[in-house]
Amino acid sequence: MPEPTIPGGLEAAASAKESPAAYDVERVRADFPILSRQVHGRPLIYLDNGATSQKPRSVIEAEASFYANSNANIHRGAHGLGSEATAAFERARGAVERFIGAHNGNEVAFTRNTTEAVNLLAESWGRAHLGPGDEIALSVSEHHANLVPWFQIAKERGARLVPLPLDQDGRIDLEAARRLVGPRCRVLAFTWVSNVLGAVNPVEELAALGRSVGALVFVDAAQAAPHFALRLKERGVDAAALSAHKMLGPTGVGVLWGRESLLEGLRPWQTGGSMIETVDFETVTWNRLPWRLEAGTPNIAGAVGFHAALDYLRALGWPAVEAHERALCARALAALRGVEGLRLRGPAAPEGRVAVFSFSLEGVDPFDAGALLDAQGIEVRVGNHCAQPLMAHLGAGDGLIRASAYLYNTASEIDALAEGLRRAVSKLRRPTPAAAKA
Ligand code: ALA
Repeated sequence: MPEPTIPGGLEAAASAKESPAAYDVERVRADFPILSRQVHGRPLIYLDNGATSQKPRSVIEAEASFYANSNANIHRGAHGLGSEATAAFERARGAVERFIGAHNGNEVAFTRNTTEAVNLLAESWGRAHLGPGDEIALSVSEHHANLVPWFQIAKERGARLVPLPLDQDGRIDLEAARRLVGPRCRVLAFTWVSNVLGAVNPVEELAALGRSVGALVFVDAAQAAPHFALRLKERGVDAAALSAHKMLGPTGVGVLWGRESLLEGLRPWQTGGSMIETVDFETVTWNRLPWRLEAGTPNIAGAVGFHAALDYLRALGWPAVEAHERALCARALAALRGVEGLRLRGPAAPEGRVAVFSFSLEGVDPFDAGALLDAQGIEVRVGNHCAQPLMAHLGAGDGLIRASAYLYNTASEIDALAEGLRRAVSKLRRPTPAAAKA
């Protein structure tokens, strides 16, 4: 089978960074075309990486090159182009498998995103295994993507959700979890990293807890996978999900990883082309894993782009990326402390967190602050961050401002954020009742 032609420099980009002597953030930035644009006439300061990351040139080119040179449908037909496309798609699967530390290629199913992966698992597994009185334990800090699918299946099956509280720093409170996760618990599903607080949850301890009661342990790795090595094989979890677009890859590609024995037992979820072996009007038999879980034509070019993103991250290397992010965390925590009236939620120390910071500004409407930052080219997210139970828990009914940094952000961008927030406070702060009277 000929090697697909996927030019676009991704291997070159990767090998150029094979052994970075020191992390050169300006060199990294030069790989991301969008970072040189302006917004409202000001240089873009992109701090909404929790929502989606920007893409390096190698990812953009890999996807474009697939369409320009190798486009065909996969797993169908005997022509050479189809074989090239199939090989590229399956190579992407292999790259994912190695990147996340999975057991083998049968355990990685491509989905549209994390949300679709959770829906697949909750519906397929839940419909077969959950019944009245069963419990699904979830943390208070879940993104709606890891809450609503479980809510729906619990309602359908007569099961109930058990919220797990957080400790002072916003991590899942292990002692409370040990009290609440009992013999009726059939699923323990939790986010590895909170998309709001940046807090990293103790995945191995939680996985051990879930296993000790015989529960299925699922971890939402959407906000973890961009920041550190998942090494899923070693964590004791049964299944995990992530999205390519938060880790330099294209939108429209996600992953459900699960232990082969778990995936083998899943009822087909979406049905149709590709996921079958034989079909007649009496009987349908299913394809092997992982294709059984991938009905219809997938996002082939997206998977190829995701492969390029993983190559890019691998070439930078986790030690360098993590050290850069730790430095950004320390800088941000210090800078945000210097903004009057700012109340940070989540861990106050750089350890055990990623560079995602959510906060309120006393007397300032968060949406007004977001608009004022935007006018300065500083892009942050404002609102409930798809985590309404957490907002209720934090008493943040008006929403929070979230600045989320990634591997191309700089210390001076963090300083510009703090300066922008000071400006927001001085321009937008409503007078306190006492000050208004005076
Ligand atoms: N899950 C994404 C976020 O947290 C959209 O912003």
